[in-house]
Amino acid sequence: SLPDPSLLLARAPVVPVVTVPSVAAGVKLARALAEGGLPLIEVTLRTPAALEAIAAIAAEVPDAIVGAGTVTRPDLIQKCIDAGARFLVSPGCPPALAEALAEAPVPVMPGCATATEAMALHAMGFPVLKLFPAEAVGGVNLLKSLAGPLPDLRFCPTGGIGPANVGSYLAQPNVLAVGGSWVAPNDAVTMGDWEQIVALAKAAAKLHRASFP
Ligand code: 3PG
Repeated sequence: SLPDPSLLLARAPVVPVVTVPSVAAGVKLARALAEGGLPLIEVTLRTPAALEAIAAIAAEVPDAIVGAGTVTRPDLIQKCIDAGARFLVSPGCPPALAEALAEAPVPVMPGCATATEAMALHAMGFPVLKLFPAEAVGGVNLLKSLAGPLPDLRFCPTGGIGPANVGSYLAQPNVLAVGGSWVAPNDAVTMGDWEQIVALAKAAAKLHRASFP
């Protein structure tokens, strides 16, 4: 079976999904999130600084567990691993990407949005899937509906989750954790308002989840 993300997700109920404008901001952001109790951080490959930020966080923030998000192509996988990413996340998973991710030496949460996609990825051995974009594709109702026919699958839903609905996601037994950008708002990152991010992380770290009682 493939490397299991569950042990990492046990560390925190929320995986901050961050887009870093610079390496320095990425390091400060990882420090603030870890200080607030959210050690996991998914750095999306959406900015030129992303890979270097992953490397800097891996080297300089021992309390953080940094992963790479928005892994949309097979050729990005080795770059993320070389930078020090300890987990990989994709928004969706066409077959060629799924096959490449199944060879990765670290836990992977491939993205799915339907029962068929979830079943295909589960058959390949991925134990935990990202449900994306969670709110847009059915959210908590979809997760409840999948629990019956697919009882072995676990999810990390992401997309449209925030303070108002996070509790209903974490109350689902098939949800190990959720991902979201609300704990690291862009304006706070740009302004360098790390105290706001520590406070948001503290609130998120306290959330209860059914899957890790
Ligand atoms: C992602 O890539 O997972 C999303 O951009 C995060 O979704 P959110 O911004 O709605 O939390």
